[in-house]
Amino acid sequence: ILGIQVLPPVNFTLTVSALAEVLLQWKPNPDQEKNDIVSLHLILINCLFFKYDTKKTWSTRRAVLHNGFSARIRTLLHYNNSEIKSNWVTAKLKAPPGAVETSVTNLSCVIYTAINNTASLHCTWLAGKAAPEDTKYFLFYRYNSYTEECQEYSKDKWGRNIGCRFSNTYINRGEIDQVVIIHINGSSKDTAIKPFEELFNKNAIEKVNPPRKVTVSLKQNNLLVKWEMPVSSFLEECFEYELNIYNWKMGYKQILETTLHSFSLTIDDTCRYSIQIRANRQSWCDEGFWSDWTEPLFIGKNQNVFVV
Ligand SMILES: *[C@@H]1O[C@H](CO)[C@@H](O)[C@H](O)[C@H]1NC(C)=O
Ligand SMILES: *[C@@H]1O[C@H](CO)[C@@H](O)[C@H](O)[C@H]1NC(C)=O
Ligand SMILES: *[C@@H]1O[C@H](CO)[C@@H](O)[C@H](O)[C@H]1NC(C)=O
Ligand SMILES: *[C@@H]1O[C@H](CO)[C@@H](O)[C@H](O)[C@H]1NC(C)=O
Ligand SMILES: *[C@@H]1O[C@H](CO)[C@@H](O)[C@H](O)[C@H]1NC(C)=O
Repeated sequence: ILGIQVLPPVNFTLTVSALAEVLLQWKPNPDQEKNDIVSLHLILINCLFFKYDTKKTWSTRRAVLHNGFSARIRTLLHYNNSEIKSNWVTAKLKAPPGAVETSVTNLSCVIYTAINNTASLHCTWLAGKAAPEDTKYFLFYRYNSYTEECQEYSKDKWGRNIGCRFSNTYINRGEIDQVVIIHINGSSKDTAIKPFEELFNKNAIEKVNPPRKVTVSLKQNNLLVKWEMPVSSFLEECFEYELNIYNWKMGYKQILETTLHSFSLTIDDTCRYSIQIRANRQSWCDEGFWSDWTEPLFIGKNQNVFVV
């Protein structure tokens, strides 16, 4: 369009502002003529666009940074029903240094929530294939604005840290955030150790508590099992259950599923049974890891029972 030139923003920079968090900053182009035409800054990260009013000149993004990070920005002018675009400007964060295959692999983490809503966090991993024997790994987690370093490591046969336990975390406290960030870096005398980051959905790695107050009763040959939902901040409707009903006489196991809080079943009352239940959230309710099985409860005739 005649006479209108749109210039990209200037001084576009990326800075690591916290674990797995980038601060993006820019300035409107000073050579762009000031007029009251509405215009925007458009940022492109991994094929996703984010729009900002030109008065806003910064933004933060959560992202895994161990392979580096890049973003592009341009100005968008809405003028006389058409859109005029500037060129893109790119900024990059370099991948942190480190030799190949020195970063940890197979990271897995589990969150346990106690009755008082405090959460503990347990993580395990494997040392990288090329990590020297003297490698020392350090684990950090971040939740909201809290970052903590592990104080309680477990080790492999060379004394390298390969597990961590936080018995008390900031997870569940304060604002509700769904993401737990794990960062593991390391050091070695001769080799640079590449860091590793992973973002976990808090609910997906929570080990659900087992059902409570399980009771079993037998009327003639009708077995009735009742229980209550696990300790949780989720609604009762969220949960599903599995019952493990084991017939000790026949050596026969049945696994039954339900979303209710009781279950009845016709059994052979000349046999002895053990009953256990475990719980999880249903998939529409942010499924976690299945709870442990409850302690077995026994019912039926006391025949052929071998306590192991
Ligand atoms: C961009 O950065 C340079 C160097 O730091 C500075 O001199 C200049 O004023 C900045 N431009 C704007 C528009 O802030
Ligand atoms: C606005 O757009 C119309 C249609 O595209 C065009 O005819 C007109 O010349 C434009 N006006 C200005 C001021 O650019
Ligand atoms: C580690 O992860 C890889 C790839 O996911 C898998 O093939 C391997 O079996 C895992 N190793 C262990 C010891 O769990
Ligand atoms: C909450 O419960 C856990 C596990 O039972 C315990 O270790 C912790 O000290 C308790 N914390 C508070 C603040 O009561
Ligand atoms: C590991 O990361 C933490 C947190 O970002 C940092 O303070 C520390 O210097 C890093 N250590 C190594 C060996 O890179």
